[in-house]
Amino acid sequence: MADQKITEHTDQLPAHIGIIMDGNGRWAKQRGLPRQMGHKQGAKAFQEIARYCRDLGIPYLTVYAFSTENWKRPKEEIDAIMDLLRSYLREVYRHTEENIRICFLGNLEPLEQDVRDMALDVAQKSKDNTGITVNIALNYGGRAEITMAAKKIAQAIGDGTLSLDEIDEECFASYLYTAGQPDPDLIIRPSGEMRLSNFLPWQSAYSEFIFMNVLWPDFTPNHLDQALKEYRTRSRRFGGI
Ligand code: IPE
Ligand code: IPE
Ligand code: MG
Repeated sequence: MADQKITEHTDQLPAHIGIIMDGNGRWAKQRGLPRQMGHKQGAKAFQEIARYCRDLGIPYLTVYAFSTENWKRPKEEIDAIMDLLRSYLREVYRHTEENIRICFLGNLEPLEQDVRDMALDVAQKSKDNTGITVNIALNYGGRAEITMAAKKIAQAIGDGTLSLDEIDEECFASYLYTAGQPDPDLIIRPSGEMRLSNFLPWQSAYSEFIFMNVLWPDFTPNHLDQALKEYRTRSRRFGGI
Protein backbone atom coordinates (compact mmCIF):
# COMPACT_ATOMS: atom_id res chain seq x y z
CA MET A 1 0.00 0.00 0.00
CA ALA A 2 3.00 2.32 0.54
CA ASP A 3 3.22 5.19 -1.87
CA GLN A 4 0.00 4.24 -3.59
CA LYS A 5 -1.12 7.05 -5.87
CA ILE A 6 -4.66 7.99 -5.03
CA THR A 7 -4.86 11.36 -6.77
CA GLU A 8 -7.06 11.07 -9.82
CA HIS A 9 -6.46 13.51 -12.61
CA THR A 10 -9.64 14.05 -14.49
CA ASP A 11 -8.21 13.48 -17.92
CA GLN A 12 -10.88 10.95 -18.72
CA LEU A 13 -14.58 11.53 -19.22
CA PRO A 14 -16.79 11.44 -16.13
CA ALA A 15 -18.57 8.11 -15.71
CA HIS A 16 -21.58 9.92 -14.28
CA ILE A 17 -22.77 13.50 -14.72
CA GLY A 18 -25.56 15.04 -12.65
CA ILE A 19 -27.42 18.11 -13.86
CA ILE A 20 -29.70 20.34 -11.82
CA MET A 21 -31.87 21.63 -14.67
CA ASP A 22 -32.59 25.08 -13.26
CA GLY A 23 -33.62 28.45 -14.68
CA ASN A 24 -36.69 27.53 -16.74
CA GLY A 25 -38.91 30.07 -14.98
CA ARG A 26 -36.43 32.93 -15.42
CA TRP A 27 -35.96 32.02 -19.10
CA ALA A 28 -39.72 32.39 -19.65
CA LYS A 29 -39.95 35.57 -17.57
CA GLN A 30 -37.20 37.23 -19.61
CA ARG A 31 -39.37 36.68 -22.67
CA GLY A 32 -42.65 37.67 -21.08
CA LEU A 33 -43.91 34.09 -21.44
CA PRO A 34 -45.73 31.88 -18.90
CA ARG A 35 -43.35 29.73 -16.78
CA GLN A 36 -44.51 26.53 -18.46
CA MET A 37 -42.98 27.73 -21.73
CA GLY A 38 -39.63 27.68 -19.93
CA HIS A 39 -40.25 24.10 -18.84
CA LYS A 40 -41.16 23.16 -22.40
CA GLN A 41 -37.92 24.60 -23.74
CA GLY A 42 -36.05 22.98 -20.84
CA ALA A 43 -37.45 19.58 -21.82
CA LYS A 44 -36.03 20.08 -25.32
CA ALA A 45 -32.62 20.99 -23.89
CA PHE A 46 -32.76 17.82 -21.79
CA GLN A 47 -33.36 15.58 -24.82
CA GLU A 48 -30.50 17.17 -26.73
CA ILE A 49 -28.08 16.86 -23.81
CA ALA A 50 -29.06 13.23 -23.12
CA ARG A 51 -28.30 12.32 -26.74
CA TYR A 52 -25.08 14.29 -26.67
CA CYS A 53 -23.87 12.53 -23.49
CA ARG A 54 -24.71 9.18 -25.09
CA ASP A 55 -22.76 10.11 -28.23
CA LEU A 56 -19.78 11.19 -26.11
CA GLY A 57 -19.79 7.80 -24.39
CA ILE A 58 -20.76 8.99 -20.92
CA PRO A 59 -22.29 5.95 -19.19
CA TYR A 60 -24.60 7.71 -16.67
CA LEU A 61 -26.50 10.99 -16.67
CA THR A 62 -28.81 12.04 -13.85
CA VAL A 63 -31.13 14.99 -14.33
CA TYR A 64 -33.10 16.70 -11.59
CA ALA A 65 -36.59 17.07 -13.08
CA PHE A 66 -38.87 17.56 -10.05
CA SER A 67 -37.93 17.73 -6.39
CA THR A 68 -39.88 16.73 -3.29
CA GLU A 69 -39.94 20.47 -2.53
CA ASN A 70 -41.39 21.46 -5.94
CA TRP A 71 -44.91 20.50 -4.74
CA LYS A 72 -44.91 23.97 -3.13
CA ARG A 73 -45.42 25.49 -6.59
CA PRO A 74 -48.82 26.53 -7.97
CA LYS A 75 -50.93 23.59 -9.14
CA GLU A 76 -51.06 25.03 -12.65
CA GLU A 77 -47.27 24.89 -12.95
CA ILE A 78 -47.05 21.37 -11.49
CA ASP A 79 -49.75 20.19 -13.93
CA ALA A 80 -47.82 21.73 -16.84
CA ILE A 81 -44.60 19.94 -15.77
CA MET A 82 -46.45 16.63 -15.47
CA ASP A 83 -48.00 17.13 -18.93
CA LEU A 84 -44.55 17.69 -20.41
CA LEU A 85 -43.41 14.52 -18.71
CA ARG A 86 -46.38 12.66 -20.19
CA SER A 87 -45.47 13.81 -23.72
CA TYR A 88 -41.83 12.89 -23.19
CA LEU A 89 -42.68 9.43 -21.86
CA ARG A 90 -45.13 8.82 -24.71
CA GLU A 91 -42.47 9.81 -27.21
CA VAL A 92 -39.71 7.63 -25.76
CA TYR A 93 -42.09 4.71 -25.43
CA ARG A 94 -42.84 4.90 -29.17
CA HIS A 95 -39.25 5.41 -30.31
CA THR A 96 -36.97 2.67 -29.15
CA GLU A 97 -34.08 3.36 -31.52
CA GLU A 98 -32.45 5.90 -29.20
CA ASN A 99 -30.67 3.18 -27.20
CA ILE A 100 -31.17 5.10 -23.95
CA ARG A 101 -31.95 3.25 -20.73
CA ILE A 102 -34.25 5.32 -18.56
CA CYS A 103 -34.41 4.93 -14.78
CA PHE A 104 -36.29 6.98 -12.22
CA LEU A 105 -34.90 8.18 -8.90
CA GLY A 106 -37.56 9.22 -6.42
CA ASN A 107 -40.87 8.17 -4.94
CA LEU A 108 -43.30 7.76 -7.82
CA GLU A 109 -46.23 6.85 -5.52
CA PRO A 110 -47.67 10.39 -5.18
CA LEU A 111 -47.72 10.92 -8.96
CA GLU A 112 -50.91 10.52 -10.93
CA GLN A 113 -51.52 6.91 -11.86
CA ASP A 114 -51.10 7.33 -15.62
CA VAL A 115 -47.74 9.12 -15.25
CA ARG A 116 -46.53 6.45 -12.84
CA ASP A 117 -47.62 3.64 -15.15
CA MET A 118 -45.94 5.29 -18.14
CA ALA A 119 -42.73 5.85 -16.16
CA LEU A 120 -42.62 2.21 -15.11
CA ASP A 121 -43.39 1.06 -18.68
CA VAL A 122 -40.59 3.19 -20.12
CA ALA A 123 -38.11 1.98 -17.50
CA GLN A 124 -39.09 -1.63 -18.22
CA LYS A 125 -39.02 -1.26 -21.99
CA SER A 126 -35.65 0.51 -22.06
CA LYS A 127 -33.88 -1.64 -19.47
CA ASP A 128 -31.62 -3.45 -21.94
CA ASN A 129 -30.54 -0.33 -23.84
CA THR A 130 -26.79 0.12 -23.73
CA GLY A 131 -26.07 3.62 -25.11
CA ILE A 132 -26.38 5.46 -21.79
CA THR A 133 -28.34 5.24 -18.54
CA VAL A 134 -30.39 8.39 -17.97
CA ASN A 135 -31.73 8.72 -14.44
CA ILE A 136 -34.65 11.09 -14.16
CA ALA A 137 -34.90 12.38 -10.60
CA LEU A 138 -38.63 12.76 -10.22
CA ASN A 139 -40.26 13.59 -6.91
CA TYR A 140 -36.72 13.12 -5.67
CA GLY A 141 -35.26 14.54 -2.48
CA GLY A 142 -31.93 13.49 -1.04
CA ARG A 143 -33.07 13.59 2.57
CA ALA A 144 -36.22 11.61 1.72
CA GLU A 145 -34.00 9.07 -0.07
CA ILE A 146 -31.67 8.65 2.92
CA THR A 147 -34.64 8.39 5.30
CA MET A 148 -36.22 5.73 3.06
CA ALA A 149 -32.94 3.77 3.05
CA ALA A 150 -32.70 3.97 6.86
CA LYS A 151 -36.26 2.68 7.18
CA LYS A 152 -35.63 -0.22 4.80
CA ILE A 153 -32.47 -1.13 6.70
CA ALA A 154 -34.36 -1.03 10.01
CA GLN A 155 -37.01 -3.25 8.44
CA ALA A 156 -34.36 -5.74 7.24
CA ILE A 157 -32.80 -5.81 10.70
CA GLY A 158 -36.25 -6.41 12.20
CA ASP A 159 -36.93 -9.22 9.71
CA GLY A 160 -33.58 -10.78 10.53
CA THR A 161 -32.42 -10.59 6.89
CA LEU A 162 -29.66 -8.09 7.74
CA SER A 163 -27.33 -7.90 10.72
CA LEU A 164 -25.85 -4.77 12.32
CA ASP A 165 -22.32 -5.87 11.37
CA GLU A 166 -23.24 -5.91 7.69
CA ILE A 167 -24.13 -2.20 7.62
CA ASP A 168 -21.31 -0.23 6.06
CA GLU A 169 -21.23 2.54 3.44
CA GLU A 170 -21.49 0.09 0.55
CA CYS A 171 -24.44 -1.67 2.18
CA PHE A 172 -26.17 1.66 2.89
CA ALA A 173 -25.68 2.83 -0.70
CA SER A 174 -27.33 -0.36 -1.95
CA TYR A 175 -30.61 0.87 -0.38
CA LEU A 176 -30.54 4.16 -2.29
CA TYR A 177 -32.26 4.76 -5.66
CA THR A 178 -28.82 4.76 -7.32
CA ALA A 179 -27.91 1.26 -6.10
CA GLY A 180 -25.29 -0.34 -8.33
CA GLN A 181 -24.43 2.92 -10.12
CA PRO A 182 -21.23 4.96 -9.79
CA ASP A 183 -21.39 8.23 -7.84
CA PRO A 184 -21.57 11.37 -9.98
CA ASP A 185 -18.07 12.61 -10.85
CA LEU A 186 -19.41 15.94 -11.99
CA ILE A 187 -22.49 17.93 -11.00
CA ILE A 188 -23.48 20.87 -13.18
CA ARG A 189 -25.93 23.54 -12.07
CA PRO A 190 -26.88 26.17 -14.61
CA SER A 191 -28.89 29.33 -13.80
CA GLY A 192 -26.31 30.93 -11.51
CA GLU A 193 -27.65 29.39 -8.26
CA MET A 194 -24.92 27.84 -6.15
CA ARG A 195 -26.62 25.22 -4.06
CA LEU A 196 -27.50 21.53 -4.17
CA SER A 197 -31.24 21.90 -3.38
CA ASN A 198 -31.42 18.35 -1.99
CA PHE A 199 -29.91 16.71 -5.12
CA LEU A 200 -27.93 13.52 -4.44
CA PRO A 201 -26.41 14.62 -1.08
CA TRP A 202 -25.04 11.13 -0.29
CA GLN A 203 -23.76 10.41 -3.79
CA SER A 204 -22.15 13.84 -4.29
CA ALA A 205 -19.77 13.55 -1.32
CA TYR A 206 -16.78 13.69 -3.70
CA SER A 207 -18.32 15.17 -6.85
CA GLU A 208 -16.78 18.08 -8.69
CA PHE A 209 -19.21 21.02 -8.92
CA ILE A 210 -19.56 23.40 -11.82
CA PHE A 211 -21.98 26.32 -11.60
CA MET A 212 -22.78 28.05 -14.85
CA ASN A 213 -24.40 31.35 -15.70
CA VAL A 214 -26.72 30.01 -18.36
CA LEU A 215 -30.42 29.27 -17.96
CA TRP A 216 -31.24 25.61 -18.55
CA PRO A 217 -33.43 26.15 -21.68
CA ASP A 218 -30.41 27.85 -23.31
CA PHE A 219 -28.02 25.03 -22.36
CA THR A 220 -26.42 23.44 -25.44
CA PRO A 221 -23.82 20.73 -26.10
CA ASN A 222 -21.35 23.61 -26.28
CA HIS A 223 -22.01 24.40 -22.59
CA LEU A 224 -21.47 20.75 -21.73
CA ASP A 225 -18.16 20.86 -23.59
CA GLN A 226 -17.16 23.91 -21.53
CA ALA A 227 -18.03 22.08 -18.31
CA LEU A 228 -16.05 19.01 -19.40
CA LYS A 229 -13.08 21.23 -20.21
CA GLU A 230 -13.24 22.75 -16.74
CA TYR A 231 -13.67 19.28 -15.20
CA ARG A 232 -10.46 18.11 -16.85
CA THR A 233 -8.50 20.83 -15.03
CA ARG A 234 -9.65 19.57 -11.61
CA SER A 235 -7.41 17.40 -9.49
CA ARG A 236 -9.43 14.94 -7.43
CA ARG A 237 -7.70 13.85 -4.26
CA PHE A 238 -10.43 11.98 -2.33
CA GLY A 239 -8.69 12.95 0.89
CA GLY A 240 -5.26 11.82 -0.31
CA ILE A 241 -2.42 14.05 -1.43
C1 IPE B 1 -36.19 24.27 -12.90
O1 IPE B 1 -36.47 25.58 -13.32
C2 IPE B 1 -37.30 23.31 -13.21
C3 IPE B 1 -37.99 22.77 -12.02
C4 IPE B 1 -37.69 23.04 -10.78
C5 IPE B 1 -39.08 21.87 -12.28
P1 IPE B 1 -37.24 26.58 -12.35
O2 IPE B 1 -38.69 26.47 -12.60
O3 IPE B 1 -36.80 26.39 -10.95
O4 IPE B 1 -36.70 27.96 -12.90
P2 IPE B 1 -36.37 29.24 -12.05
O5 IPE B 1 -35.37 28.85 -11.02
O6 IPE B 1 -37.67 29.71 -11.44
O7 IPE B 1 -35.83 30.21 -13.06
C1 IPE C 1 -34.03 22.36 -8.03
O1 IPE C 1 -34.40 23.59 -8.52
C2 IPE C 1 -35.00 21.30 -8.50
C3 IPE C 1 -34.97 21.01 -9.93
C4 IPE C 1 -34.19 21.55 -10.81
C5 IPE C 1 -35.93 20.03 -10.35
P1 IPE C 1 -35.30 24.59 -7.67
O2 IPE C 1 -35.49 25.79 -8.50
O3 IPE C 1 -36.51 23.91 -7.17
O4 IPE C 1 -34.34 24.88 -6.42
P2 IPE C 1 -34.35 26.12 -5.40
O5 IPE C 1 -35.75 26.24 -4.89
O6 IPE C 1 -33.93 27.32 -6.16
O7 IPE C 1 -33.35 25.74 -4.35
MG1 MG D 1 -35.27 27.18 -9.87
